[in-house]
Amino acid sequence: MRIPQETIDRIRQSADIIDIVSDYVSLKKRGQNWIACCPFHNEKTPSFNVSPSRQIYKCFGCGKAGDPVRFIMDIENVSYPEALRHLAKKYGIEVEEEQLTPDELIRQNERESLFIVLNFAKEYYRTQLLETEDGRSIGLSYFRERGFLDQTLQAFELGFSPDQWDGLLQEATRRGYRTELLEKAGLILTKEGGSGKPYDRFRGRVIFPIHNVSGRVIAFGARILKADKNQPKYLNSPETEVYHKSQVLYGIFQAKNAIRQEDVCYLTEGYTDVISLHQAGIKNVVASSGTSLTIEQIRMISRFTQNITILYDGDAAGIKAALRGLDMVLEEGMNVSVATFPDGEDPDSYVRKMGAEVFRQHLSHHTNDFITFKTDILLKDAGDNPFKRAEVISEMVQSISKMPDPIKRQVFFQKTARRLQVDEQTLISESNRLVLKNLERPQERRSAPASPRPGQGPEPPPNELTEILNDFSSADPYEAPVPEKPVTRLKSRTPLAFQEEECIRILINYGGYELEPDISVCHYMLSELGAMEFTTPVLREMLNEIRQGFLTSEIRTADYFLNHPNQDFQLLAIDMVTVRYQLSENWEKHEIYVPTEADKLADAAFTNILRLKKLVAEQRMSEIKLQIGQAQEPEECDRLMLEYMHYKKVDIEIGGLLGTVIS
Ligand code: CTP
Ligand code: MN
Repeated sequence: MRIPQETIDRIRQSADIIDIVSDYVSLKKRGQNWIACCPFHNEKTPSFNVSPSRQIYKCFGCGKAGDPVRFIMDIENVSYPEALRHLAKKYGIEVEEEQLTPDELIRQNERESLFIVLNFAKEYYRTQLLETEDGRSIGLSYFRERGFLDQTLQAFELGFSPDQWDGLLQEATRRGYRTELLEKAGLILTKEGGSGKPYDRFRGRVIFPIHNVSGRVIAFGARILKADKNQPKYLNSPETEVYHKSQVLYGIFQAKNAIRQEDVCYLTEGYTDVISLHQAGIKNVVASSGTSLTIEQIRMISRFTQNITILYDGDAAGIKAALRGLDMVLEEGMNVSVATFPDGEDPDSYVRKMGAEVFRQHLSHHTNDFITFKTDILLKDAGDNPFKRAEVISEMVQSISKMPDPIKRQVFFQKTARRLQVDEQTLISESNRLVLKNLERPQERRSAPASPRPGQGPEPPPNELTEILNDFSSADPYEAPVPEKPVTRLKSRTPLAFQEEECIRILINYGGYELEPDISVCHYMLSELGAMEFTTPVLREMLNEIRQGFLTSEIRTADYFLNHPNQDFQLLAIDMVTVRYQLSENWEKHEIYVPTEADKLADAAFTNILRLKKLVAEQRMSEIKLQIGQAQEPEECDRLMLEYMHYKKVDIEIGGLLGTVIS
């Protein structure tokens, strides 16, 4: 249903970005902005910025940015109208839905009607479970036997479908739901060819409602109560307009906050694993519901954490099948671990038997990174057969090559080489080929936006958001072309020299500013620079003086250099503290200007560091290219190739962060 523009405006006007973001992360004030560790990617130092004056947020780590509505869309994984409704609710704004054209009405109403009828069905199954004799004696006692407590039944909204052909159908009809809608929702079936009489899909089973990420019921799983060879243990809703199995993770609604807090998502196979762990207080857990993991499911998890631990019950067939799908998770840059359980135990049975404490301990002792896990399984399988061992090597190289982070790749090459008892170089040479192939089509993976979820309503008007984002960058003085007089002391200014100078300029003007408590600009920039030596002699010396000072907790800024015996330092320092003043004619203007720059300081420092690193990587690359041309040994060539790849990757990644176009 369409929300009237007037209401949208009211919602947008009421929405306060600080207020909204604070519901999810704890913000710290820094200058006029607020910062936090980004809720959309895993990080230790905050690069998530919120600007109350512009009512926008931007993460300088992962690039996510937008306005209040976009924030809700991203964090709650909901569509544009759903985000608006969410905000309306928060601010007590009534949303009266507007009349749509008949065509729109039918289409939009259908999804909404499906949600409504599914919600009705959930309520029906719950009433059956809790308030009917059969429900209590059969369904409830089954759940009790499994150890599920009341609050758990409540949290997962578990239910019971009576053993009747049309219990739900009758009640639904009485309430005015059309048979056709019930069928579209996957709740009833009609025998083909036969009498044509519709009947309930779920009969005589306990019911596990499946929720989407915002908590609406979209489907059901239904478990049989007594072992019966002729009947499947679980019956599930078919695919419907609101239920696409491959895009759903069971338990995500109940788990999402815990996943974010714990910064890891446990992935299990079954409904009952999720429920038992949740009840034991381990709430960051979801299930793929017996199918292999899909890219949509992974992307959903990656909204909350970059770390997945897969909890497998030990059966070999299951493990093998799962291994195949998992390279995909590596490709998304996520950190994957695998935990195993003793024979015959699944997470559900194990946590019930041992309790949460032992369970956690078990996890900490039996969790391996995915690569190690896979290597061991394949090796065991290959035994002494040399051909099979060669296959293992190739298989592992393929997996590792999928990782987008060159540093992680390197770590895993070392680790795996040791495990396979081969020379690391063998793995690297094999991988060079693969990496090269991947780089030929980098667009596919890197720039593809997380696929929009089909059928979740209209996207927001794109130009609005683009404007907002432009606003962010164009207001940044460092993004604009530099209009001021060039500094005369430095004769030729290569891009690298320019960034080196900019780095020193930030350091001597703002070195003592705090980016966050106890982290000064100086501290941040020096640790990012590491041991990097500048190419411009005078700047190199100045940087080293600053480093020297920092060793004894002295932050050497403009005053220090203005009074320095070295006249080169003095002159340069004067240029650097005055150059920005020349931008404005009068004092008021410049007084406004300075705090603005200080406010943008984190961005300026961050951008400068990235540019420096990018330029150094580029320089290194051209050196390596020369060396490759002169290399004699193939091994030497391979080593250089790998190094080249490493810098190339760094270069591309930084390019992405800087939002520059890579040609
Ligand atoms: N599953 C299914 N259809 C089946 C069997 C299983 O959809 N016929 C899915 C269910 O989502 C189930 C998961 O696969 O939760 C794992 O299956 P299994 O381990 O057999 O079920 P459990 O969840 O362990 O259920 P229980 O403990 O009640 O046996
Ligand atoms: Mn089980």
